Amino acid sequence: MSTRPLIEMSRTHPPLVPDVFDPEYREALANVMARFTPSEMIGAHRWMGTDADRAAGAIFTGQRLGVVPEPGRVVVTNGTQSAFNMLLGGLVGRDNVLAVECLTYPPILVLARRLGFIPKGVEMDEEGIIPEALEELCRSHSPKALYLLSTLQNPTTATMSTTRRMAIADLARRYDFQIIEDDIYSLLPESNLPPISAYAPERSWYLLGVAKSIAAGFKVAYVVAPSVRLAEQQFWPGVRATFWMAAPISAAVSTQLIDTGGAERIVAAVRHEMRARHSLLEPKLKSFDAVTREGALHVWIRLPKALCGKELADLIRLRGVSVGTGDPYTLPGFVTPQALRIGIGHAKSHAELIEAVEVVAECHDHFLRTAA
Ligand SMILES: Cc1ncc(COP(=O)(O)O)c(C=O)c1O
Repeated sequence: MSTRPLIEMSRTHPPLVPDVFDPEYREALANVMARFTPSEMIGAHRWMGTDADRAAGAIFTGQRLGVVPEPGRVVVTNGTQSAFNMLLGGLVGRDNVLAVECLTYPPILVLARRLGFIPKGVEMDEEGIIPEALEELCRSHSPKALYLLSTLQNPTTATMSTTRRMAIADLARRYDFQIIEDDIYSLLPESNLPPISAYAPERSWYLLGVAKSIAAGFKVAYVVAPSVRLAEQQFWPGVRATFWMAAPISAAVSTQLIDTGGAERIVAAVRHEMRARHSLLEPKLKSFDAVTREGALHVWIRLPKALCGKELADLIRLRGVSVGTGDPYTLPGFVTPQALRIGIGHAKSHAELIEAVEVVAECHDHFLRTAA
């Protein structure tokens, strides 16, 4: 049993980069406070974002989409999960099917129970969803929409080639479903391919949250809808809910950071730190069956089938390190992969990161030996 505080490795938070983030955030906040009257700013709902927020969101998402979308298509939300709540309720709805990766981001499964839609898993390979498997699901279940990550899939880090992205876009047209593309990890690799939404903009709901590239607690995510009309239809005025709106201060600071280039400088600092962490870990990961990629905030460690990921995670926790497993990502009817998900961005220092990975390695070795 460890006596030091638990080292948190179960989350995919980006590393803190205080030397860059703190002055940028302080300056953006000071500018916002100088430019706007607090009573007027905080005294009003942000609805889909002000014109300035939506224009900034268009610039921010445009860096991934290849073209800057019309600001009227952009909705500023209180984080990706809030956007899910609106989109999955509105685009899929009770008793209808949402196609998802066979290991999917756990809140989708929670929302399925709450909102009554049916998540159906699609088999994946190292590029993520397999088009043939998706086509089979389209034939048998006619999904209303597909939720996926084309870059650094959570939890496998699978990333699609251009051919794969185009094949998914093509299927969406042929089988007439909407694409809900969560591109939250996509700013972390040095260079990246355009999202699927760039190939099928007329049916894509593109989500770019700032939680993984700027700061985990920011609670701002930009949604790009297929059209101005559809953005309004899903978010305003008929929906009679306001929980998804970004708090005015966060939305305004985010706008300011995008407009002044501060957002870009913070993302560059996060990338730089992640590069250092990946180089540090590379030799240490050789003893695992580990999958990760440039810029990824986590490592996915596969275990032999006979071993239980949860038992290993419990053992690691007794040694003072918290790691995730494949269990929460598994859809009903699918076999849980025996694996660990270790977040590498959250550790407070390189020394803490190394200490935690060494604990994982020792427990992993012990587990393999005693199981053999
Ligand atoms: C795939 C994915 N989407 C969204 C989120 C959370 O985003 P937000 O803070 O914008 O709700 C996470 C965080 O773990 C995630 O892994």
